[in-house]
Amino acid sequence: MTQDEMKKMVAEAALEHVETGTVIGIGTGSTANHFIDGLAAIKHRIDGAVASSKASAERLAAHGIPVLELNTVDGLSIYVDGADESNHHLHLIKGGGGALTREKIVAAASRKFVCIADESKLVDVLGSFPLPIEVIPMARSYVARELVKRGGQPVWREGFTTDNGNIILDVHHLKIMEPVKLEQELNDLPGIVTVGIFAKRPADVLMLGTPEGVKTLT
Ligand code: 5RP
Repeated sequence: MTQDEMKKMVAEAALEHVETGTVIGIGTGSTANHFIDGLAAIKHRIDGAVASSKASAERLAAHGIPVLELNTVDGLSIYVDGADESNHHLHLIKGGGGALTREKIVAAASRKFVCIADESKLVDVLGSFPLPIEVIPMARSYVARELVKRGGQPVWREGFTTDNGNIILDVHHLKIMEPVKLEQELNDLPGIVTVGIFAKRPADVLMLGTPEGVKTLT
């Protein structure tokens, strides 16, 4: 079974979490895209969706699924999104697609966060995947120096601008032993908009696509 087939299988299994008559949050990336495609078949059951990126909003709209602004809804029943890495506590690294800021906002506004991924994303220690950090452009060098002091090797994702007009630094060589602590510490650095560690608000459910079927961790 290919990685993409595992992503599709887990995305379709996650449809069971959709609560009828509610607004749901939708993430970004290839796994989230499979979820959006599956959602099209049951779109009559939901009142609409809030997207974490322009790309996902366009895909939802193409399926005729109502796309709502977060400011116009009371709250979201679930948030469904992929991840770049998860540990066994369901702390995540996200932002490979550069949508981490809106993803973190939509996740925070949701009662339940269902993370969907293929089994290769489950790791013991976060950090083999370079940690994406969204940064205000004028703070790029300052923030990069602060990250080097903390043992990381930041690489500017050149040519990429986030939906919010900012840049991304991908931080290599971090072994994130205390995700909640590092997320908080980096949140406090001026110039950082969003850290791609999702540990203060981890996933509530992690569904993994494997050749043997879908495995669920809570
Ligand atoms: C985007 C993300 C994605 O969830 C993450 O990159 C996983 O992507 P994919 O589902 O394509 O493997 O955080 O910012």
